[in-house]
Amino acid sequence: MHNDLFKQLQEEHQLVKQILLKMLKSPEGSRKDLLEELKLNLLPHMEGEEKAFYPVLSKKTEAHQPSLEALEEHHIGKIVLHEIENTDSSSDTFLAKCKVLNDLLNHHIHEEEHEIFELARNNISEQATEEIYNNYLSQRNDYKGRLAA
Ligand SMILES: [Fe+2]
Ligand SMILES: [Fe+2]
Repeated sequence: MHNDLFKQLQEEHQLVKQILLKMLKSPEGSRKDLLEELKLNLLPHMEGEEKAFYPVLSKKTEAHQPSLEALEEHHIGKIVLHEIENTDSSSDTFLAKCKVLNDLLNHHIHEEEHEIFELARNNISEQATEEIYNNYLSQRNDYKGRLAA
C-alpha cells in the first residue's frame, strides 16, 4: 500500500516526540539512556528519508524548495544532537539544548506531516511511493545496523 510509507514515518515521528518529551522531564540519571534511545530512532529515520524519500520528492518542481528546507532542518538537528552528546548531562545547558532540539524537530515533523507528505501524495505515483517505502526501510535498517555495530 502506498499509504504505508506515510503511516510508517508518522509512527516513527510519534516515537521520537515521546522520547524528546521524556528527556525534558526525566531526572539527570536517565538522560544519557534517553539520548541513546533518541539517536537509535532519530538518525536511522533521517537517513532513510534522506536516501529514499527526499531525492525523489525534491525532483518535483513544486516540492523542490520545501524538500531542501526539510533537509537543512535535518542538518541543523544533527548538529544540535551532536552538541548534546558532548554536553554534561547534569547541566542546565544540556536541558537547554534538548529544548531547542525538541522545538526544531516538532517544527520539522509538523511541516513533514502537514506540507511535505501532501506534496508527495500529489506528485509521486502510488507505485513509486511503494518503491520509496521499501527503499526507506532498507536504508533505515542498514543505518540502524551500522549504529549498533
Ligand atoms: Fe520524518
Ligand atoms: Fe525529516
